[in-house]
Amino acid sequence: MRRIRIFDTTLRDGEQSPGASMNVEEKIQLARQLSRLGVDVIEAGFAFSSKSDFEAIKAIASEVEGSIICSLARAKEDDINRAWESIRNASKRRIHTFHSTSDIHLKHQFRVTREEALQRSVDMVGMARSLAEDVEFSPMDATRTDLNYLCEVVEAVIEAGASTVNIPDTVGYAIPGEFGTLIKALFKKVPNIDQATISVHCHNDLGLAVANSLSAILNGAGQVECTINGIGERAGNCSLEEVAMSLRTRKDIFPADTGIKTEEIIRTSRLVTKITGMYVQPNKAIVGANAFAHESGIHQDGLLKEKSTYEIIKPSDIGLHKTQFVLGRHSGRHAFKTRLGELGFNLSEDELNKAFDRFKNLADHKKEIFDEDIEALVSEESISVSDEIYRLIDIRITSGISSERSAFVKLKIDGEVVEKKELGDGPVDAAYRAVASMTGTEYLKLMKFEIKSITGGTDALGEVMITLEDDGDVIRGTGSDTDIIIAAVRAQLNALNKLEIRKRKAL
Ligand code: KIV
Ligand code: ZN
Repeated sequence: MRRIRIFDTTLRDGEQSPGASMNVEEKIQLARQLSRLGVDVIEAGFAFSSKSDFEAIKAIASEVEGSIICSLARAKEDDINRAWESIRNASKRRIHTFHSTSDIHLKHQFRVTREEALQRSVDMVGMARSLAEDVEFSPMDATRTDLNYLCEVVEAVIEAGASTVNIPDTVGYAIPGEFGTLIKALFKKVPNIDQATISVHCHNDLGLAVANSLSAILNGAGQVECTINGIGERAGNCSLEEVAMSLRTRKDIFPADTGIKTEEIIRTSRLVTKITGMYVQPNKAIVGANAFAHESGIHQDGLLKEKSTYEIIKPSDIGLHKTQFVLGRHSGRHAFKTRLGELGFNLSEDELNKAFDRFKNLADHKKEIFDEDIEALVSEESISVSDEIYRLIDIRITSGISSERSAFVKLKIDGEVVEKKELGDGPVDAAYRAVASMTGTEYLKLMKFEIKSITGGTDALGEVMITLEDDGDVIRGTGSDTDIIIAAVRAQLNALNKLEIRKRKAL
């Protein structure tokens, strides 16, 4: 069995998805989950790009154990020094430096010759090696680079000390057979290639990132760079869950293992959705809501007789457990706590009390409470009672085609009860205006508002996810309730609490 290394770049290339920026706490939370998932390398960010990226990498390097923590740097002295500073506290650390090699990039973007690009790459790998033992180099836009020149660069950077050489399909241009042939050619033509791990980094512009990565593995690649849910620059990156499950499901084609604990996939995917505010399309392979939904009568008939007729992956392999009616109005605190434990949540007493109150309230409105409902309730409870500044006490709305659309909202702000009525285009608009006016946050822009139902049925929990913008900074909030107006206000308060807590901490 070959061992394929999984290099996750959700925190770096994934964060380059439009609107997917994450704050430092969110990055640490995700890095912890990536380590639990068993990724070999976490690319935690691009240290030189911003102070907050630097701080996030540094915090991850000190707090997250298990995976190698990697920091990206252009082939420049200042970038490499900054990358090193960001990871030096990690127990396992890597500097990843890159320089373009295609004539298109060298001529039009960097205005340097091939010789100059080669020399800079070698010098910067050497410099990175003087700081860190583990150095990765990427010849950017490799798939549009002249093959002989690419071989020359790969050989030279290995000679200079790169222990991993990553072949990026930066613009998602390659086709699987062609990309496999490129990797094979490198193995044939580069004399010292056995002294490094060959990695691949595929973008999804033609929808081929996973296929290209698998083709590269068949031709000798030992590391795949990917992101959770396939998020990333433009059309995204190779999806981690798709590669991991392809390798696991088709052992006959790929006699290869990864260190991925596939049972953690769904939890990680949902965390990325929650943190980035980017929902996964329902038909997305492995983690989409329909990935295990069999609609056709013929398929259902086959499945009832024998699962293997239409099921190539067991939902439990990615951590999805059959939706079950678990708890209801008569369930007590102990049963609730036990189920939370089974679902992998470990709440403090304070968080548990708050979640249990919400659960009891939900049970008054909804007869059957499923695991998904509990997960939605708990993931919203990320703000502890002691930190909470704004709390929803009551809301009443009026709406209709011919009547006024208004909202009356009662909040507790720093322990004091405040109330306000506002008119709006609809009840959500009216309620948001009332909350904004009471909290003095009219200046925030609502960039995104998404709503979905957690389970089926008209009594289902509605989950609202919003993104607010505060002068370039984004804040996300989630809220759930069987009443979607209340869910919307909860999401708004969740975001406002995060913003206010962050502001008070900064003082
Ligand atoms: O797509 C790309 O080429 C990159 C490099 C920095 C590896 O993200
Ligand atoms: Zn990339």
